[in-house]
Amino acid sequence: MSLNLKNNQFPSASVLGTGSYVPEKIMTNADLEKMVETNDEWIRTRTGIRERRIGAPHETTSDMAAAAAQSALENAGITASELSMIICATVTPDMFFPNTACFVQAKIGAPQAVCFDVSAACSGFLYAMEIARQFIAVGTYKTILVIGADKLSSIVDWTDRNTCVLFGDGAGAAILQHREGARGIITTSMGSDGRLADILYTPGGGSAAPITAENVHEKLSTIRMNGRETYKQAVKAMMESSQQALRQAGVTIDQIKCIIPHQANLRIIEAIADRLEVSLEKFHINLDRYGNTSAAAVAIAFDEAARQQRFQRGDLILLVVFGGGLTWAASVIQW
Ligand SMILES: CC(C)(COP(=O)(O)OP(=O)(O)OC[C@H]1O[C@@H](n2cnc3c(N)ncnc32)[C@H](O)[C@@H]1OP(=O)(O)O)[C@@H](O)C(=O)NCCC(=O)NCCS
Repeated sequence: MSLNLKNNQFPSASVLGTGSYVPEKIMTNADLEKMVETNDEWIRTRTGIRERRIGAPHETTSDMAAAAAQSALENAGITASELSMIICATVTPDMFFPNTACFVQAKIGAPQAVCFDVSAACSGFLYAMEIARQFIAVGTYKTILVIGADKLSSIVDWTDRNTCVLFGDGAGAAILQHREGARGIITTSMGSDGRLADILYTPGGGSAAPITAENVHEKLSTIRMNGRETYKQAVKAMMESSQQALRQAGVTIDQIKCIIPHQANLRIIEAIADRLEVSLEKFHINLDRYGNTSAAAVAIAFDEAARQQRFQRGDLILLVVFGGGLTWAASVIQW
């Protein structure tokens, strides 16, 4: 597809390759029925989720991130030694520090890379992609590995049916580099609203409520969520940021070949499809198999859609996310 390139004076960032990883262990809705007062029908009709993957006890976020990174490197046809930066989006780092990207660096062998994490909950992968694009545009870093990885099972309260049925573990990755004659990421619309922090958060474990026996007893380090309010805000933010990104790119929704949304809830995606007046067929949806894997969700879906060739070179795609913070973002990308 030919686009107006006249305003594009900076080197663009194209996606050289994508990759993903999910843990082996499958937890079905039937498994959850044995743990909390819930049932398969409720979970399926309210969320669209049928099963999710759960990391093994020894499996860390950086293990999953490194596996997704290896798969992206193979797909891009480059080696880890060519990476100049690694950005990992996560809210479940292996440790507070060092950052998870540093652990990935050591695991995949990328000695030249500058490494850091981004914290923007489920929106983290698109935040990290946009940060990478800025570095490539300025010309300071050439080949950047962007990862979205989360082991949400490590911060879920497995006795809280309001949240435990929604989440899963996994990792997705993309490698960005300037490619002559290609646009790559055309634009990203981003937003945040810290006033609504308490509708989706983990109150403990940080400086506000450090890990003490009492705080652990109160389960302060597990996810708290106001489901209805989160649902409302997600639909609004994902719809508005999609429209904003389309406007910024100067394209219409009809020109978009495939929409890759955050995989939180099928009803949220249906509501966005309805409001954007676009068929659900245009969306790549995998939440039935993985649930909400936070920063990994859109990244895994992106990799899956690319491997299934849901779009070809030159096609336009729209990625759109929403998460705690609140944070949200939408990117228009030319494949
Ligand atoms: C969580 C969510 C699925 C709940 O669906 P909902 O239609 O809003 O359901 P409600 O809040 O009206 O709850 C209905 C009832 O189901 C109950 N319920 C909650 N979880 C349940 C479960 N797993 N199984 C059975 N019943 C459950 C509630 O307790 C409530 O019971 P009550 O009416 O007796 O109080 C929905 O609000 C949602 O998806 N929100 C967004 C969550 C999200 O995406 N978070 C991550 C964003 S990045």
